[in-house]
Amino acid sequence: MATRAALRYYHHCQRAARSWSCTINHNGAASRLLSTPSSAEQSQDSGKLEEAEPVETDSQDRTKLLVLGGSGFVGTNVCREALHRGLPVVSLNRSGMPSIKEPWVNNITWVRGNLFDPNPWKEILKEVSAVISCVGGFGSNEAMKKINGDANISAINAASEAGVKRYVYISAADFGLPRFFMRGYYEGKRAAEAALRSKFPYGGVILKPGFIHGTRHVGELQIPLSLIGAPLELALRNAKGLSGTPLIGQLLIPPVKVTTVAKAAIRSAIDNAVPPGDLDVWGIIRLGDH
Ligand SMILES: NC(=O)c1ccc[n+]([C@@H]2O[C@H](COP(=O)([O-])OP(=O)(O)OC[C@H]3O[C@@H](n4cnc5c(N)ncnc54)[C@H](OP(=O)(O)O)[C@@H]3O)[C@@H](O)[C@H]2O)c1
Repeated sequence: MATRAALRYYHHCQRAARSWSCTINHNGAASRLLSTPSSAEQSQDSGKLEEAEPVETDSQDRTKLLVLGGSGFVGTNVCREALHRGLPVVSLNRSGMPSIKEPWVNNITWVRGNLFDPNPWKEILKEVSAVISCVGGFGSNEAMKKINGDANISAINAASEAGVKRYVYISAADFGLPRFFMRGYYEGKRAAEAALRSKFPYGGVILKPGFIHGTRHVGELQIPLSLIGAPLELALRNAKGLSGTPLIGQLLIPPVKVTTVAKAAIRSAIDNAVPPGDLDVWGIIRLGDH
């Protein structure tokens, strides 16, 4: 019963997404938010809206947000932002809890696991309403293709099989660089994006930031990437028009603050009003800063 009702409500939300936002809250209940429909839309949809009451989702146990790579630079910020919004968070990465000495770290459930082998941890997916993947990396072309592509595709497949509704992948902007430059990195990213579009046509969101700045923790060290990133972001933020300039345009993609990326990722994970598809850096800024 609850499943059918939730599905009906979910499809209703899809239809009404231009004007209404439907959220799966962390108690597993679906609810409506943010009503600014035009009067025409209101009269078209009002009958359906009246009959759509908040209902339980397909499983009352789907209460959690799963952050893949929650111990990394972007992942820690995503975890912190999710806690700030009162969401119960599980992070999965190979080494478990990071060495950051901040109180919020104790409020995350840290699970050790490898994306290449979801079998040991895929049970967690049954308790999850949304996944945010912050797993990626650099190295040889082969290694980059595997970690950015294969590892993420394996997690996307596992989440889809487990019935997870929304999936957010932190990918990367294409700077229009020659194809041989970081070939494996971009091949991996594009392969994972294709898998996400195919497995999550209604709930897959791909964030494509350029350089991300903030404070990166490396062991006990804190690297203040914002010293370079913040002024560059300020200079390039309002220069969207320049990104169409032939040859150099894409190099002018502004850096973005890691907290902005984290907020945009969380919104994409919990808010059905965020449509599936790609979010470029300007989309990330719009979503993350408001
Ligand atoms: N930083 C930037 O400027 C930037 C810009 C654009 C896009 N991005 C993208 O944003 C994402 C996050 O970047 P980041 O800088 O936060 O990376 P990061 O700091 O290197 O974090 C990577 C995370 O992935 C985990 N991980 C790596 N391999 C794994 C595996 N096989 N199974 C499970 N977990 C694994 C790591 O933890 P363990 O090592 O413990 O497993 C870590 O938590 C990446 O996809 C990156 O390409 C970053």
